[in-house]
Parts: sequence; C-alpha cells; structure tokens
Amino acid sequence: MNRVGVIGWPVSHSLSPAMHNAAFAALGLDDWSYELLPIPPDIIRQGLREIRDHGFVGVNVTVPHKQAVLPFVKADELATALGAVNTIDFRDNRATNTDVAGFIGDLKAHGIELANANVLVLGAGGAARSAVYGLARAGANIGIVNRTADKAQQLIADLGVKARVLSFADTEDWYVDLIVNCTSVGMWPKVDECPWPEDVAFPEGATVYDMVYRPERTRLLEKAEAHGGRAIGGLGMLVRQGAAAFKIWTGEAAPVEVMLEAAREKLRVES
Ligand code: ATR
Repeated sequence: MNRVGVIGWPVSHSLSPAMHNAAFAALGLDDWSYELLPIPPDIIRQGLREIRDHGFVGVNVTVPHKQAVLPFVKADELATALGAVNTIDFRDNRATNTDVAGFIGDLKAHGIELANANVLVLGAGGAARSAVYGLARAGANIGIVNRTADKAQQLIADLGVKARVLSFADTEDWYVDLIVNCTSVGMWPKVDECPWPEDVAFPEGATVYDMVYRPERTRLLEKAEAHGGRAIGGLGMLVRQGAAAFKIWTGEAAPVEVMLEAAREKLRVES
C-alpha cells in the first residue's frame, strides 16, 4: 500500500482525503490511500518520524506545522524562501510548497492576466506570503493591506519582493484589477464578516479572488459582484495545490476536475 496523508492540528475538516482518494480511484491507483494525520504541535518531530517509519510515501503539511517541519526536511528553494512547507516526499525527504503553484495555476485557469496588473493583497500571514511571492514572480504591481501594517512590511522584506504597504483609504486612489483575500475574515463559522470595511468605497469592476472556500460564496465575493466585478472562491487553489502534490508522489498528472468535484461534494455534505 502507498500511504500519503495530511499532518495538521486539527485536520478533521480537511477536504484533502476526499479529493486525493477520488483522484486515486479515477486513475485506478488502487494501492494508494490518503489519510488524516492529526499531530499536536509539541510532538511534531516524533510524529514525522513515526509516519516516515510507518512507510508513508509523503504528506501534505497544514496549519500549524508548515514552518515547524522545516528543520527535519530538505526544503527546496521555494519552501525555504517562503519559510513554509506544504508537501513532503519521504523517499528523499525533500519538501516543497505547492501553494504558490495552486494559487497562480488557478488564476491562470480563470484566464486572469497578472503581468503589470494592479493587485491588492489583503492580509500578511502565511497565505499572503504564497500569494505575494507568486504575484511578484508573475510581474504584478502589488499593494498589501493588513490590519497590522508592520507585518506587511516584514513580509516584503522577508521575501525580497517589490510591493507597497497600503491602507484601505489609499485604495481609493489606486486602480485595482484584482483583490486577493488572504485573511481568514469571512471564513466559516463567521460567514457574515467581510474583510473590506463598510466606510471605504469598493473598487468598481475589480475581480476578487477569495482564498476562503468555506463558504464557497463569501460576503466579499458578493460585494465584488454587486460592484460589477468577477468573484472567484479559493477551492480551485486548494485543489491545484493538492494536484501538484499528487504529481510529486505518484508521478502522474492529477485529474483536477475529479478532485474539484470531490472537494465540492464534501463541502455540500457538510453544510
Ligand atoms: P494564514 O496562514 O491562513 O495566512 P495567519 O498567518 O494567521 O493565517 O494570517 C491571518 C491573516 O488574517 C493576517 O494577515 C491577519 O491580520 P494580522 O496580521 O493583523 O493578524 C488577518 N486577520 C485575521 N483576523 C482578522 C480580522 N478580524 N481583521 C483583519 N484581519 C484579520
């Protein structure tokens, strides 16, 4: 049996088993299985070793372990630059981060041009790091708004990218093509919250990409559409980061549509 899984704490809500197991079934990879692997933060080193000793091919890594696993793996250039790992291959103990590919890949799949686009990133945590890194590489002009401005400044310095820190008020003087929500605001269960403040005009016609996918349609996405813009939820990014991990482990191209449908179905059953 080829075992893979996701380590996190908690991980019970993860959509990854549903989407990977559906992908294995679709490709006839009957000797592969994807499991939930809850590991508390204080035993991460020992937990990783045990999973490896049990013969796992690899794992995805989610909150709160993405940084904590770094000392125990051979992180590639990307994971090192981001300071975060999301995929490990135990066969060579190499680790990478497929979130950037998931994010940029999903924007591309939606036909969104990034070269020279004005992109406003909301947030400066781990998710924002992946977004800013990918957007900078794709040649976007990046503005970052974060509740804690210092963290946005630090993110820019850590990644060594060109971007500016803005306040929401500044955005009224900036033409915005794309807004990317990398905060957790609006995520289930606080579905009535919106990261865009009531007292700041919302950019007309801007596309919004919301990394939140629970719910699939957030308040922010509703706001985008109310202002004549396109609204894209973050499920595609989740699926595409998973698809990239699937390719690393199995060597086969992932059936993205199958994975997307399995993830959607899991969300539907939950709600
Ligand atoms: P992740 O790894 O998912 O990015 P994180 O590193 O905890 O999670 O980052 C969460 C982001 O959401 C941060 O940018 C955070 O803002 P701060 O840097 O000021 O903490 C933002 N965030 C979370 N709750 C928020 C709220 N209620 N209002 C505004 N921003 C919020």
